[in-house]
Amino acid sequence: MSIALITGASRGIGRATALRLAAEGHTVAAGYGANREAAEGLAASLPGAIAVGGDLRDPATPARLVDAVEAGLGPVEILIANAGMGSPPRRLEEIPLAEWDDLHAVNLRASFLLAQRVLPGMIERGFGRIVFVSSVAAFTGGIIGAHYASSKAGLHALAHSISQQAAAHGVTANVVAPALIESDMLPAGSREALAAKLPVGRLGRVEEVADLIAAVVANGYLTNQSIVLDGGWHPS
Ligand SMILES: NC(=O)c1ccc[n+]([C@@H]2O[C@H](COP(=O)([O-])OP(=O)(O)OC[C@H]3O[C@@H](n4cnc5c(N)ncnc54)[C@H](OP(=O)(O)O)[C@@H]3O)[C@@H](O)[C@H]2O)c1
Repeated sequence: MSIALITGASRGIGRATALRLAAEGHTVAAGYGANREAAEGLAASLPGAIAVGGDLRDPATPARLVDAVEAGLGPVEILIANAGMGSPPRRLEEIPLAEWDDLHAVNLRASFLLAQRVLPGMIERGFGRIVFVSSVAAFTGGIIGAHYASSKAGLHALAHSISQQAAAHGVTANVVAPALIESDMLPAGSREALAAKLPVGRLGRVEEVADLIAAVVANGYLTNQSIVLDGGWHPS
């Protein structure tokens, strides 16, 4: 079993993924941003787990998180780059530059920096799993805005590039792209209307995303793929 760093594990999809990977016997480092208590509470409930935190808008945070995992548990063998920021829905002309930068810093740059920090060790050890949590917005533009869609689209190229470099060394890199999952990220007051858009007629559950992430982690032949999980909204 392996050591797994899951960013954004204080809530939502990341929390469900931490629970799921821990149930499969992996040792979890639960990442957090502002919600330290929630991540520490989660870690306290899981065997051998720790919580590691910091604001991923800061480019120094990814290396600090990995350092903390290495000091507390050992090398990161599974990276789930899940932490993400949204915003209220915005038309292109309404997107403030600072918000564009924040979403790219957390959703894309931090994912790149985390992968950059852990990949050499994974290659050296001949094993690694990297999963980027994107969004169907990377394909369709989505409902939040161009800044969110753009920050997620870059993750797909990152996975393609890492796969080329690392697949022959036992390291896989994939993207899981969910949509309309019940969590704090969904715009308030819109849930019923959003669910009605979906062929399955309901929102997704965080546990369903965690199931898929766990399956990706378990499969050494799957790399360079973007898997959409969206209740049939966008055929891919
Ligand atoms: N829910 C959906 O329908 C949906 C759809 C497509 C994609 N996604 C993606 O799925 C991922 C998880 O989202 P979710 O639905 O679980 O959302 P969520 O409940 O809002 O959780 C977001 C997580 O990201 C962390 N985070 C946010 N900003 C951060 C920052 N600056 N520094 C460090 N951590 C930060 C939060 O940590 P703290 O709470 O500790 O600050 C939290 O754990 C995101 O990447 C999101 O874009 C979600």
